[in-house]
Amino acid sequence: MSLRVLVLDTAADVARHVAGRFLHLLRRPCVLGLATGSTTLPIYARLVEAHRAGRASFRHMTTFNLDEYVGLVPGHPASFVRFMREALFDHVDIDPARVHLLDSAVPDPAAEAERYERAIRTAGGIDLQLLGIGANGHIGFNEPGSALSSRTRCVTLAPSTRDANRHFFDSEPVPRQALTMGIATILDAREIMLAATGPSKARAVACAVDGPITPECPASALQAHAAATIVCDREAVAGLDHPRSNGAPCATS
Ligand code: F6R
Repeated sequence: MSLRVLVLDTAADVARHVAGRFLHLLRRPCVLGLATGSTTLPIYARLVEAHRAGRASFRHMTTFNLDEYVGLVPGHPASFVRFMREALFDHVDIDPARVHLLDSAVPDPAAEAERYERAIRTAGGIDLQLLGIGANGHIGFNEPGSALSSRTRCVTLAPSTRDANRHFFDSEPVPRQALTMGIATILDAREIMLAATGPSKARAVACAVDGPITPECPASALQAHAAATIVCDREAVAGLDHPRSNGAPCATS
């Protein structure tokens, strides 16, 4: 297996590249796994731009979001459902019946996790899963220590993750728990694209690419996937062991 690392100059280049892959897949019915977070905002902005310019229709796109906080009132400004509406869904011609999000307001999160896994299977699996990466190496909300065989479930957020996401919450406390697709659920996607930008991601990217496959760095699990690409700007690859040229695939195991 090899993990492709694509190094582009800037965060804007990363957004352009990832959005371009989405736009390619949107030419036919597809199932896309979506992420939230600051890294994804310029990607979704490009998709909205393409739609407004008449270059993309989202009518036949089915989506599954990676994760959602537990304990927020429905429609909370920091919820991922709200994030997705504001960043993408409200601005394109997506069919609401094809949008899937984890519902963390349900009384039984374990049953909700099972429902989600079933819904992904019923949709035929995910064609392309978009990921960001936490500074601690998390993917989705699979924090360090998560089993590589984990599936969708309720998790406790790491203190560093709650700190990193505090700016989305004004003065309110950041939830302590979330529902997230598991690492094995993510690896089931036929293709994975992880976007990483900025110096705060350099250590996590280095662990994911150059380190061993270990639960201590959940993103390292991508090394075991047949079609995973980490798309980074130059700042995010500053910690790699050896320099890589633009677009050069690098074998990691
Ligand atoms: C969000 C998610 C997280 C983020 C990660 C990076 O749905 O799954 O794993 O992708 O925390 O977040 P940003 O881009 O805000 O640094």
